[in-house]
Amino acid sequence: MTDAHTPRPLLHFTPERNWMNDPNGLVFYRGKYHLYYQCNPDGTMHDHISWGHASSTDLVSWEHHPVAIRDDEAGEIFSGSVVIDHGNTSGLGSADTPALVALYTQASRNPSRQAQALAYSIDDGLTWTKYAGNPVLDRGTGEFRDPKVFRYDGPAGSYWVMVTVEAVDRQVLLYRSDDLTRWTFLSSFGPDRAVDGVWECPDLFPLAVDGDPSEMRWVLIISLSPGGVAGGSGTQYVIGSFDGVTFTADAEATDEPADWLDFGRDCYAGVTFDGLDREERTLIAWMSNWDYARELPAGDGLLRHAMMTLPRRLSLVSRAGRIRLRQQPVSAPLERESAVEAVSVDERVTLMERLPEAGRMTVRVDTRDAAGFALHLRCDPSGDGGVVLAYDRGDRRVTLDRRPGADGLPESFPSVEVMPVPGGRLVELVIWLDRASIEIFADGGTRVLTDLIAPQAGTVLAIEGRGGAVHVERIAVAGVIASG
Ligand code: FRU
Repeated sequence: MTDAHTPRPLLHFTPERNWMNDPNGLVFYRGKYHLYYQCNPDGTMHDHISWGHASSTDLVSWEHHPVAIRDDEAGEIFSGSVVIDHGNTSGLGSADTPALVALYTQASRNPSRQAQALAYSIDDGLTWTKYAGNPVLDRGTGEFRDPKVFRYDGPAGSYWVMVTVEAVDRQVLLYRSDDLTRWTFLSSFGPDRAVDGVWECPDLFPLAVDGDPSEMRWVLIISLSPGGVAGGSGTQYVIGSFDGVTFTADAEATDEPADWLDFGRDCYAGVTFDGLDREERTLIAWMSNWDYARELPAGDGLLRHAMMTLPRRLSLVSRAGRIRLRQQPVSAPLERESAVEAVSVDERVTLMERLPEAGRMTVRVDTRDAAGFALHLRCDPSGDGGVVLAYDRGDRRVTLDRRPGADGLPESFPSVEVMPVPGGRLVELVIWLDRASIEIFADGGTRVLTDLIAPQAGTVLAIEGRGGAVHVERIAVAGVIASG
């Protein structure tokens, strides 16, 4: 694969070369965000899985580093997390220089066995030493993985907590430790809510509701594959409480059986950074889907060369008597917006001849007496091609049709995604477009849809009313300022 010559996403993290899947070990330490990720150092398939590494001071531009933790005869280095061992509880660093400690899954093939192992770094996350006593937590099973560790500090005490899964059993398992090497079982959660497929990459963290620190809830994130809401890989979240031992889910709302972090097909294995303040809880997910990730064309850097989602700040908000997780993307430097304002639209009209290759679009449309509207993104001047983002007021949903341009892609790739939105006459959307992806934020970010899209031949932005005329209050587009 000739990476130097393939067009690359402008807004999203992508490795310099080779295979990538889940983000791992997200940690903010000494002014830098570290992103480790599942990679194959030697090829474009999911094999020899190791941890790649990049860092950033702003979550926008990334510096690539050498492979951090390599697979070896003990197994591949599957997903996991990094914590800063302030207090040197592990004895692996010193009081002045805390070790960064990675807990990951050591995945061996013969026999098939998955256990949690430890590696540490005393040079700010650049080089890592595997712990001599690995694995540190072994149940003797084959699908026990994805440890996410955090420091619990609450009424029950102060200790490390590891959140893991028995993937096939669809169970989240919690363990505790005082030194990051010896772990004892606390409790389990599940199967519950969305239970198709295997459960993977859990995360558990507290957030304030509506910014009120006296109203704390805990959020459990569970990736599952297949069985996601849009097909294949997807992520649910569960809101509840955590007393230091047990996670207890809040009573299920009757209208929707599960809460989905994302309604698209390409937001998977998302986890959050350690080392940030509570108000800065930030998630990054892999922008792909196990349904087709292995089959995307290797010659096309944009699709095969996987990317991460935009980093998203998380918060909890009350909406119509329910608490919802809100995601707000971390913005990139943008050019001045060009906007279309106050136009009524019935038949299809071109709003812009040339959408930027990557950027942000904000949309505010009053549907008045119409049934909805459709935006054509990157169509040609006659309206052909382009992905179609539509709002249907009666059904209260946003749909995204990414079938255009998808000929030649894997059979399971072309699809139409559906995202329920609170609905109403006035619709506001924030859309982040890149050369081969789209992230749509509705209802202030409580509803998100993330999809890869095939690169399109056209450049036009067009809109049409459906079942009547709609009033475009404002549609504004700002291109991204390419870094470097
Ligand atoms: C999720 C996942 C994890 C596993 C890793 C292997 O995408 O299947 O459960 O640790 O990928 O690369």
